[in-house]
Amino acid sequence: MTRHLITSALPYINGVKHLGNLIGSMLPSDLYARYLRARGEEVLFICATDEHGTPAELAAREAGLDVAEFCKEQHEVQARLGEAFSLSFDYFGRSSSSQNRELTQHFGNKLLENGFIEERVTKQVFSIDDDRFLPDRYVEGTCPHCGYEKARGDQCESCTRLLDPTDLLEPRSAISGSANLEVRESKHLFLLQSKLSDEIRAWVNEHADWPVLVSSIALKWLDEGLHDRGITRDLKWGVPVGREGMEDKVYYVWFDAPIEYIAATWEWADEDADNRDWKSWWYEAEDVNYTQFMAKDNIPFHTVTFPGTQLASREPWKMVDYIKGFNWLNYYGGKFSTSQKRGIFMSDAIEMLPADYWRYYLLANAPENSDTSFTWESFSGAVNKDLADTLGNFVNRILKFCSSKFGTELPAGGTPTAREDALIKSLAERIETYNTHMDELQIRKAMQELRAIWVMGNEYLTEAAPWTEFKTDPDAAAVSLRCAINLIRVFAILSAPVIPNASRQISEALNLGLTGEEWISQPIEVELTTLKPGHKFTVPDVLFRKISDEEVAEWQERFGGGESQ
Ligand code: MF3
Ligand code: ZN
Repeated sequence: MTRHLITSALPYINGVKHLGNLIGSMLPSDLYARYLRARGEEVLFICATDEHGTPAELAAREAGLDVAEFCKEQHEVQARLGEAFSLSFDYFGRSSSSQNRELTQHFGNKLLENGFIEERVTKQVFSIDDDRFLPDRYVEGTCPHCGYEKARGDQCESCTRLLDPTDLLEPRSAISGSANLEVRESKHLFLLQSKLSDEIRAWVNEHADWPVLVSSIALKWLDEGLHDRGITRDLKWGVPVGREGMEDKVYYVWFDAPIEYIAATWEWADEDADNRDWKSWWYEAEDVNYTQFMAKDNIPFHTVTFPGTQLASREPWKMVDYIKGFNWLNYYGGKFSTSQKRGIFMSDAIEMLPADYWRYYLLANAPENSDTSFTWESFSGAVNKDLADTLGNFVNRILKFCSSKFGTELPAGGTPTAREDALIKSLAERIETYNTHMDELQIRKAMQELRAIWVMGNEYLTEAAPWTEFKTDPDAAAVSLRCAINLIRVFAILSAPVIPNASRQISEALNLGLTGEEWISQPIEVELTTLKPGHKFTVPDVLFRKISDEEVAEWQERFGGGESQ
C-alpha cells in the first residue's frame, strides 16, 4: 500500500508568519494531510522552521539575543501558532538540528566526491567595523546607473538592474552603515549545476501532471541555463562545512533548508526510535508518494536546485512526486510583508477569531490560479454567509427545533419519501465531485463543492419545513428531522479537514465519536439513516458567530486595509 509523505515549505524563522505564508503552504498541506488520513491512508506530514542565514542573524541582533537563543524562542512561537491554527504536523522540526547538520554535510561530501562541487576563490566585501564578510544584499550604496542612493549590492531597487557589490559608488555596510570596507579573497564551494541540467530536465519532464505554474517556472529556469552557484558563506550561523581550510564557513541556507525535510523526518523518528524508521520514508522508498506544498517563489529551489542535489548524490533518495504551488495572497492588492509589518499576522488573527474562520476563508480563496486579495469585506462576507448562516445556523436550528418538539434524541415514525431519495442522489453526486477535487488538490473547487453541499441541506430543510409539517403530520416532520440530523453528521465528516474544530463540536453534540479517520465515499454510505431513532444528541453552542460592520471598520482601521496602494 502507498504511504503518503507530505511536506510544507519551511517557514523562515525571522518572525511570526502572516496569512499569506499560511495559505501559501502550511494550511493547504494540512488540508491534504487531514483528508488522506480521513480516507484511511498512511500519512507522514512534516514541517520545520528554516533557521539559518543572515536574516536570522540580523533579526536576533535586533531582538538583542544570541542567534541560537533567538531561533529557539521563535521556533516555539511558530510551533504554538501552528497548533493554534490546528496544523496537524506529525513533526515540526528545526533546520538547526544535529540531524540536519549530519545530512547536509553528507550531501555536501557526496557531491564533492561525485565531481559536482568544486572549490573556487572569490572576492567579497569585508566590513572591518562589523568584523564580517557582507552578503551582497547587505552592501548598500549609490547605483552607478541611475544614481539611486540606497541600491543593494545584488540589485538596484529603483532601476532593477542587477549589480555586483563592487559596482556601487560610496559603498557601506547595510548592517552598521560603516564605509570601512575592503575586498578580500575567500575560498568557497560551488555547485556545478550546469553539469546536472539535462538530468534535472529529464526528471521534470517525467512529471507531466504537475500544475502549469510549477512546470513553467521549472522549465523557465532550465531554459535560461543553470549557473554554477556558491553554496557556502562566510558566516558563523549555519551548518559548518566541516572541511580543512574552510573552518569559518557554513553551507548557504538554501542548500541545507530542503535537506531539513529529510532531517525533520529523522528528528521525528528519534523521538520514538523503536517504532519509527525515517529512512524507509526517504531512501529506496518506492512505496512512498511524496507531495510538496509551496508558494511560487520557492518553486525553483524545489524543482531544480534540491532535486539537483538529490540526483548528484547518486544515492536513491526519495524525490518529490507532485508539487502544489501557489500564487500570492495579497492584502488589498498590495503585498503582505513581514519586514514592513503590513497585513495580518497569525498571532493577530488567532486573537481575533478561532482558527476555523480563517481556515475556511483562506482555503476557499486559495491563490491557485492567480494572485488573490484578502479584504475584510470578503472575509466577513464568507464567514457570515457560509459559516454562520449556511452551516452553523442549519445545525443549531434543526437540533433546537427537534429538542423542543421531540426531545434530545432522533424521533421515530414516518417513512422516507421521494424528497429524501432525491436528496440522497444529489448528495452522492456532490460528494463524488468533492472527493475528486480533493484528490486532485483543486482546493477552491473542493471548497465550492463543500459549500454547495451545505447549501443543499438548507434547501432540503426549506422544502421539507418540519416546523409546519409538525403541526399537521408529526411523522413527516420526524422523517425530515432524522434526515437533516444525518445530514449534519455527513457535514461534520466532510468538513473536518477544513474546519476541524467545528467538526469536533458537531461530533460531540451528536455523539458521533469522530476521530478524523472517517470519510464518505461510496454511494451506500450516503444513506441518511446511519443515526437511528432514539440516538441522543445535545444542542451545541453557536458554531460560528457573525462579524459586524463595526468590526470590519475597526479592523480596517487597525490593519490599514482599504486605502489605495
Ligand atoms: N524558508 C523559505 C521561505 O520562507 C522556504 C524554505 S523551504 C525549504 O521562502 F524547503 F527549502 F526548506
Ligand atoms: Zn539603479
